[in-house]
Amino acid sequence: MATTVADQVKLDILSKTHTSDNENKLKEIARTFISDTVTVPTKEMYAYATLATLGDDVYFDPSTAALEAHIAKLTGKEAAIFMPSGTASNQIALRTHLKQPPYSILCDHRAHVYKYEAGGAAFHSGAAVTAVIPSNKHHLTLSDVEDNVVIGAEIHSTPTEIIALENTLNGTIFPQSEIVAISNYAHSHGIKMHLDGARIWHVAAETETSVKELCDPFDSISLCFSKGLGAPIGSCLAGTKEFVNRARWFRKLFGGGMRQTGILAASAAYALTYNFPQLKRVHALAKKLEVGLEEIGAEILSRAETCMVFYDPSSLGLDYGEIADRAGALPDPLFLGGSRLVVHIQTTEAAIEDFLRVIKELAEEKRKAGFVRSESKSSKLKDIYVRRIPEKPIQ
Ligand SMILES: Cc1ncc(COP(=O)(O)O)c(C=O)c1O
Repeated sequence: MATTVADQVKLDILSKTHTSDNENKLKEIARTFISDTVTVPTKEMYAYATLATLGDDVYFDPSTAALEAHIAKLTGKEAAIFMPSGTASNQIALRTHLKQPPYSILCDHRAHVYKYEAGGAAFHSGAAVTAVIPSNKHHLTLSDVEDNVVIGAEIHSTPTEIIALENTLNGTIFPQSEIVAISNYAHSHGIKMHLDGARIWHVAAETETSVKELCDPFDSISLCFSKGLGAPIGSCLAGTKEFVNRARWFRKLFGGGMRQTGILAASAAYALTYNFPQLKRVHALAKKLEVGLEEIGAEILSRAETCMVFYDPSSLGLDYGEIADRAGALPDPLFLGGSRLVVHIQTTEAAIEDFLRVIKELAEEKRKAGFVRSESKSSKLKDIYVRRIPEKPIQ
C-alpha cells in the first residue's frame, strides 16, 4: 500500500508499460488527422526545456522574458506577453482593447474568437459580435467589411471597435493586400485590428513573407506555439508596450498569470527553431492528400493552402463515419474526424498513403456494389461548415 501522495499519484499515472505507452502515443499521433494540437513534445524538446530559467513569471522569468522579447521583435511590435492558450490570448486582447460599451467586434462567421471560444467576447468583454459571411466564401474583403461595419453614434447601434481577422482560417491564407486594405479602412475610422494568428507561421512559411509584414496591419496579434509548431502549451500576445502592460493585468485577473513558465517558453523557442522549418514539408503532405483524394473522385471543399484539407466523399457513395470506422480498424489505425483533415509535423507519409488507400478501397467496394458516381453539384468550392468536434475521440 502506497504511503505518500507522491507514491499514490505515481502509481496512478505510471503503469509498467508507461514508456511503451508513450511510444505508442507518438505512433498514434503520427496517424491522427483530427488536429495539429495533438502533436506531442519530443525528448529533444524536453531536454532543451530543462535548460530554462526557474523564475516565477508573475514577477519575472528570464527565459519567458527572452521569448516575449523575441516575439515582439518578430512581429515588429513593442512588446509581447506569454499566454496559457490561444483562447486566453484572443480574449484578453479583446478585453484590453475594449473600454466603454456599447461596442461590437466584426469578424468572419467562422472565426475562432466568435465560434469556438465559448462565447468569450460576450462573457469577458460584454461585446456584441458582427459575424460576417465572406461573399467570396474564402476570406473577408474590404467591401464585406464596409457593408457590415457599424460606425457613428446613433443610439440604436453598437459601434464596431475591433475588426478581428484570422490567418490562416481553416488552413486558408488571407491575401495580405486585402488585410492591408481592411486595416487602412479600419484605422481611418479609429477601429482596432486584432489578428488571431494561431497559425500565422504557416502563412509565413508558405508565402515566404516575414511574420513582421504579416503583422504590420494589426494593433494586436495572438500567435500559438501549441498547434502547428508542436510545443505543448502556450501562445503570445503582441502589441504596444501600453497594450501589453494592460493585457498583463487582465491576464492576472483572468487567472492566467503562471509561475515557473521557463520550461514552457523554452519548449516554444525549441519549436520555433526546429519545427517552423518543417512547415513547408507539412504543407506538401497536405497537398498530397488533396491530390490523392481528387484522383479517387472525392470532392475537395477547401484546398490544402497550408496544413488542412476539407473533403466530401459523398460523390463516391461514402460517408465520414464509415471511412473513420474502416481507417480505425486497420492493424495500424488512423484517427479521423469528419470533413477536415489536418496534417502536422508528426504526420507520416505512410499515414497519408494508408488513408488514401482506405478511400480507394471503400470507393471500389461501393462501385462493385452498384453505386454510380454522381457528378459534383458545383464546380466551385463549397462553403464549409467545419465540425471541430471529432466524431470519435482519440483513445
Ligand atoms: C485559429 C485558432 N485560434 C485560437 C485557438 C485557441 O487556442 P487554444 O486551444 O490554445 O485555446 C485555436 C485552437 O485550435 C485556433 O485554431
